[in-house]
Amino acid sequence: MFVKNAWYVAALDHEIGRTLTQVRILGENVLLYRRQDGVAIALEDACPHRKLPLSMGRLLGDEVECGYHGLRFDCAGTCTRVPGAERIPHVAKVRAFPLVERYGMLWIWPGDTALADPAKIFKIDQWDNPEWGKSRGDAMTVDCNYLYITDNLLDPSHVAWVHPSSFGNAACEDVPVNTLEKEDGVVVSRWMMDVDVAPFYAPFVKFKGNADREQHYEVRYPSHAIIKAIFVPAGTGGPGKPLHEDAFLMDSYNFMTPIDEKRTRYFWFQMRNFAPGDEEVSAQFGSAVQAAFEEDRIVLNAVQIGMDTMTSPNLNLKIDKGPIKFRQHIERMVAAEKPMQQAAE
Ligand code: FES
Ligand SMILES: [Fe+2]
Repeated sequence: MFVKNAWYVAALDHEIGRTLTQVRILGENVLLYRRQDGVAIALEDACPHRKLPLSMGRLLGDEVECGYHGLRFDCAGTCTRVPGAERIPHVAKVRAFPLVERYGMLWIWPGDTALADPAKIFKIDQWDNPEWGKSRGDAMTVDCNYLYITDNLLDPSHVAWVHPSSFGNAACEDVPVNTLEKEDGVVVSRWMMDVDVAPFYAPFVKFKGNADREQHYEVRYPSHAIIKAIFVPAGTGGPGKPLHEDAFLMDSYNFMTPIDEKRTRYFWFQMRNFAPGDEEVSAQFGSAVQAAFEEDRIVLNAVQIGMDTMTSPNLNLKIDKGPIKFRQHIERMVAAEKPMQQAAE
């Protein structure tokens, strides 16, 4: 099941406008649209009368009119009109979700509204740093439970086999990983010393020759990842060492929003410590990342099917320590929310 008291990405900012749009989040249909002044709104996408999705109705100014019998709702989900009735029944309302626009994305809080604090939205370290470039974000749907994606994003080793033409190379096969449990998530990382620069990074790395490379794979609860790629000239890297001035740094942000138990909307964008504002570099990053994530998608879709239909036991390896710790913590978070949800019902 899902952690509800958390911010999740509902959509990329440009996906939502003055058209009623349905998204499915944590097993619930949500209606997204923008008010006339541009502010984005999220409402439960089910009319309280016969549960027709309100997204099948129409926008009248800032209000939504149901496409079946004309009930109207304002941005807070309060019913403002029941055609043919003398008064509006007080149960004629839909839930309004907290929604915040930040980092080119719309962040929704599916849990208890009273706990929704925008200060808890994932922080992007270099967002306002003028020396860092950003590539425009994108999204895809993966047909697997979100925890198979958090497994993947706590697993630096898979790049050797899944991404040999981009993020990985033979250097990524055998170096052991370190696992660190933090209060807000899990970090799996490793330094690989004196290695070839993997193909994705090679065109952008400033120095010649081999590199010391760090992979820092961090996923914060419930499902937000920062993947840091660090390349420095061979002989200058290692844990705790100051970064060489020619260091290549890329922070890849990955936000997973469960659609339901077996599908996940996967949002991402990348930050880099060079070429700020260079559209060509951003486009190159964007398309290379998209192609690599497509490689993950194929694997993850097949993993979900494989795990659903297995006829012999699966095993865990040493590399699974971080992903398993992450899953155990999520289970505890979900269990801790249960009594709160029951009290609210
Ligand atoms: S179903 Fe919406 S008004 Fe009847
Ligand atoms: Fe991957």
